[in-house]
Amino acid sequence: MTFLSSILLLEMLILGSGKMRVDNALINEIRNKVDIVEVISSYIPLTMRGKNYFGVCPFHDDHAPSMSVSKEKQIYTCFSCGATGNVFKFLQDFEHISFLDAVKKCADMSGIALDLKPTETQVSSKYKTLYDIYDVSLKFYQNNINSSIGKKAKEYLYNRNLTDKEIKEFAIGLSLNEYDMLVKLLQQKKYSDKDILKSGLANANDDGLYDIYRERIMFPLHDPSGRVIGYNGRAYQGDMTNKYVNSKETDIFKKRDYLYNYHRAKEEARNKKEVIIMEGPMDVIRAYTIGVTNVVATLGTAFGSSQSNLIRRLSTNVILCFDGDAAGLKATKLAIGELEKVGINPKIVRLPGGNDPDEFILKNGRDAFLSELKKAIDVMEFKASLLKEEMNLSTNDGMAKYINMMIKEINAIDDDILKEVTISRLVKETGVDKEVILKSIKTSEIPIMIKPKTIPRKNRRYNESVLGLLYFMLHDEEAIKEYSKSAIYIPDKEYRLLAFEIEAFYNKYGYIDTADLLTEIHDDEEVVKTIGLIMNMDSSSFNKEALTDYLNNIREYQKQEEINKYQERLKMTNTYEQKLELGNKIIADKIRSEKND
Ligand code: CTP
Ligand code: MN
Repeated sequence: MTFLSSILLLEMLILGSGKMRVDNALINEIRNKVDIVEVISSYIPLTMRGKNYFGVCPFHDDHAPSMSVSKEKQIYTCFSCGATGNVFKFLQDFEHISFLDAVKKCADMSGIALDLKPTETQVSSKYKTLYDIYDVSLKFYQNNINSSIGKKAKEYLYNRNLTDKEIKEFAIGLSLNEYDMLVKLLQQKKYSDKDILKSGLANANDDGLYDIYRERIMFPLHDPSGRVIGYNGRAYQGDMTNKYVNSKETDIFKKRDYLYNYHRAKEEARNKKEVIIMEGPMDVIRAYTIGVTNVVATLGTAFGSSQSNLIRRLSTNVILCFDGDAAGLKATKLAIGELEKVGINPKIVRLPGGNDPDEFILKNGRDAFLSELKKAIDVMEFKASLLKEEMNLSTNDGMAKYINMMIKEINAIDDDILKEVTISRLVKETGVDKEVILKSIKTSEIPIMIKPKTIPRKNRRYNESVLGLLYFMLHDEEAIKEYSKSAIYIPDKEYRLLAFEIEAFYNKYGYIDTADLLTEIHDDEEVVKTIGLIMNMDSSSFNKEALTDYLNNIREYQKQEEINKYQERLKMTNTYEQKLELGNKIIADKIRSEKND
């Protein structure tokens, strides 16, 4: 096997598998064949000191050797900026390449690709048949558009100012005005009717199966790892009543979990540390034509929690750039709510004249669009503008209503800076004395839910314990087992998430290794960051006694925190009944916790 073909095999293996994670064992085999010290020292000078190597960290502005590279653990960590990772992460960030390219680079260095046997590339996936059917359909649709039968469809796309470049890049295809061409093709290829129906590309009647998509321009929809899982089919001639037809929900495609172009945009979004969300494929493709490539799209106006979680994996800097019409406004509000739930405060662009990004860019060009992006407003400015549209600020009554509504919104803000900015803006805009506004912010009624942020978290013993626990868990499987047994709930989300990932890794592979874990979670920035934090600690090696202490301290802290929370609430409650109810809860909690001891 030539080197190139083995790389292709490797790529197929990774792209074609059920889940990216399925193949991490193999990826880590590649990782094990290269030495992180050798790789990093080919980019920056490293000096050996004790067990580790040190160099100037390339990921922040520095002159001191703040980055340590561990030969033993095969990871690097910067004491100053907290950058951490295995060899793939280093290559990704240093060379600004994708994860997959970093894997390839290492395969290249080690020659491991030559060891790949074809049998190893037989990826088993529960939904393999469905993916295969989509592969067949994609080739079919692409052939159609590129043959003479696709002339009209191409003309339509050219008229919409797309070129062959975009048609190819976005794998745009064409379904034909035929009854069952695709079904026949799939049957010829020996796919069962059951599987063909399952794919959502065909329906059945008494005469048998028939194609769902006919005479439509086919925009393929890819999952995050780049496999085609559905289509957005656009009418381009004849009956236009149903402009777009989406794939039916199948085992591999759920519209509410889906973001168009995610697999192409993810690297760029991470590099730019920003992601733009639009409504449809045409908007995304148009953005590409002007070099804006950190962009994904919902399919229309639905927006759900899976989508916001996908977004969060790319960046927390999010720009919502939906259509400028009423539907786009509604979608914007919905998306804000969903994004806020995962801790994202998006910025918002409202395009003028009811335009969608596609139309706006076509009419006004690149610079005008970039300047709209620059003018993106924060959530509070957006909410303020909506309120202002609703109320007549030229009357005293309207003005008072507006201020009161804004104070309500301000009280609900989690982010201190955003809160401050919004207050200043409100003061400036209304001319009302800042003290007056601040006063009403303090005294305005706060609902029973107190934000956890207000509870002091700075308990040193707890902090040391949770970091110590995680350090042990990263280095010793006994610590993982003990943690699982303890059924402890770690109050801080970032630590809880890391513990969860370590446990999941151990349950899946039966061992623990930080560098391998970093491969597994390579696209979860937050967890990687937490690992950096843990790795920067001065920690002793695993010992059972310390572990028991840590677990006890965490349990203790968690209980105390529960009680604090109730007591905080008690302070804030007004009525006697509420106080009584909460008081009872505190007592019940105390009794329960004493029983558990
Ligand atoms: N959409 C859909 N089903 C519909 C209408 C819309 O799935 N019945 C999705 C499509 O993915 C579409 C997106 O919602 O791209 C936005 O809809 P719309 O603004 O109507 O379409 P445009 O993106 O403007 O598409 P075009 O420019 O081709 O008209
Ligand atoms: Mn449009």
